[in-house]
Amino acid sequence: MIATETHQAEILDGRLAAAQIKGEVAAEVTALKSKHGVTPRLAAVLVGDDTASAVYVRNKIRACEEVGIASEHLAMPASTTTEELLSVVDALNRNNDVDGILVQLPLPKQIDDSVIIEAIDPAKDVDAFQPTNVGLLAMGRPRFVPCTPAGIIELLDRNQIEITGANACVVGRSQIVGRPVASLLLQRNATVTICHSQTRNLPEVTRQADILIAAIGRPAFIRGDYIRPGATVIDVGVNKVTDVDAARDYFGHEAEKRIEAITKRGYTLVGDVHPAEADRVAGKRTPVPGGVGLLTVAMLMKNTLQAARWRRGL
Ligand code: GUN
Repeated sequence: MIATETHQAEILDGRLAAAQIKGEVAAEVTALKSKHGVTPRLAAVLVGDDTASAVYVRNKIRACEEVGIASEHLAMPASTTTEELLSVVDALNRNNDVDGILVQLPLPKQIDDSVIIEAIDPAKDVDAFQPTNVGLLAMGRPRFVPCTPAGIIELLDRNQIEITGANACVVGRSQIVGRPVASLLLQRNATVTICHSQTRNLPEVTRQADILIAAIGRPAFIRGDYIRPGATVIDVGVNKVTDVDAARDYFGHEAEKRIEAITKRGYTLVGDVHPAEADRVAGKRTPVPGGVGLLTVAMLMKNTLQAARWRRGL
């Protein structure tokens, strides 16, 4: 494929894949209820008043309602201590009615998040951040799989993008996305490269990728010259853009709509990939919003259903 001004990458629609997955989960939840009298239950804990985290938790609770999973939303003040949160997690661990426990990250800075994550019962760890589940995934024996990485694999599979033998490049090495998605791609027989802030000649490395995954948390960081012509580009970033000139640069034919959003509510969202430049070079790319984020929520539903089954030996 040749990069030209008229080329437009195909958009990988997260909405469609997420709706399919939630539909499948809903059918299985109904079957679990009628056959075994079991309704899966998710407990979501939100500490503090970070507005983005509040939106994410609300979306997760709404998805539970859509698929028939019971949920509870525990809100704790920003001043919560590690010990206080630990006692809430302990109570949820002991509550036999709760199948999945989710503690929304990031936590306020006085809380030691590794202590909290380690305390979650691995059998209820629907985020798969607890070291037991991290270790199983690293060993190639995944039990729970983190939601965003699992969603990325689903999106690739549901769009018939071949993973086996592909050169996959992951930019970012976070516990939540970079490391686990690299493990999953390796397990699916991709040739995996993990890049980070110390990588030399980053664009040269990323240009080798058939599948390029951007999970670094920097707005529009992946430019056109980082992308192999025809590559599939998965954008995990969610960054606020408040500057009208930046929006004009990022969004090409969508710029006017995005600038209107900035004028109306103060910001628009961009991922870690420069969308207008990626459109000219990539074969396929995920949009922000409407891409990977929706898959994260859908996979959380799948993990919660799985937790409800596994905890009862089903
Ligand atoms: N913060 C950002 N992504 C996630 C996620 O997948 N789960 C939780 N609990 N917090 C997050």
